Amino acid sequence: MSQEIHGTHSDEPDDPAEPAATRRAADEAESSRASRGWWDRNADEYQNDHGGFLGDDRFVWGPEGLDEAEAALLGPAASLKGLDVLEIGAGAAQCSRWLAAQGARPVALDLSHRQLQHALRIGEGIPLVEADAGRLPFRDGSFDLACSAYGAVPFVADPVQVFREVHRVLRPGGRWVFSVTHPIRWAFPDEPGPEGLSVAASYFDRVPYVEQDEQGDAVYVEHHRTLGDRVRDVVAGGFRLVDLVEPEWPAWNNQEWGGWSPLRGNLIPGTAIFVCERDRPSAEGSARTTLGA
Ligand SMILES: C[S@@+](CC[C@H](N)C(=O)[O-])C[C@H]1O[C@@H](n2cnc3c(N)ncnc32)[C@H](O)[C@@H]1O
Repeated sequence: MSQEIHGTHSDEPDDPAEPAATRRAADEAESSRASRGWWDRNADEYQNDHGGFLGDDRFVWGPEGLDEAEAALLGPAASLKGLDVLEIGAGAAQCSRWLAAQGARPVALDLSHRQLQHALRIGEGIPLVEADAGRLPFRDGSFDLACSAYGAVPFVADPVQVFREVHRVLRPGGRWVFSVTHPIRWAFPDEPGPEGLSVAASYFDRVPYVEQDEQGDAVYVEHHRTLGDRVRDVVAGGFRLVDLVEPEWPAWNNQEWGGWSPLRGNLIPGTAIFVCERDRPSAEGSARTTLGA
């Protein structure tokens, strides 16, 4: 099952213009190449379809509409002033714009040139960096916080490499908060209606979802990790997990976003947000999981 957060694919299953969907291995290089191409080709449609919901300068964690202004997962808004923040998989940098409005100093990083052009279209003033999350072009200890709303993590073959990179560029005590498709969704069809409520695949099957062209080259890749895998990846990346947030579907939100809908949102989780911390030196070397601490 794919869980396509972009939500821009044709609904026609036999559309000849659509690449063929399959399940097969896809390594880091192929996944990165596919993601760059896909987001460059589809950024316009993504921003056209979802830009209204995202707003120009809101920080939304996912299709449920949980807003950082209310959730304060990076810390109280008033505490963000003057902090260096890295946003990974920033798209059009809406989250960074909200962070800048709080007085933070965000840097918005994305693999896709076209997504970053949308950031410029919305407004100037946010530093933009075109790079892969697996190789961050920053010195060690450059940031106080790092965040990602569905950026990069669901699309990379080696999330631990991304987490190690984030750990490297964060200062001791820094937070790393990222949202991804809730892993349970992998077992269900990616449909917003009742057909999306019956288990159709194994939650434990980690074989990537790949769309490929006629030559067999991947043009879109999604990598599944179970909830336990994600926790182990966070710890392997050097972090302590301090919270795992599963936003509930709010009564005000009547919008569908791909397979995310009020119907499904009221029954099963759609987003998982991992709140992680890089320990200060005295505690490092004993990275541990403290869920709910
Ligand atoms: C679902 S969009 C989310 C964008 C934005 N955070 C938002 O909420 O609209 C995923 C973004 O991750 C970016 N991305 C995918 N793989 C990446 C990678 N390996 N490194 C950096 N960015 C990546 C894509 O280019 C895309 O802009």
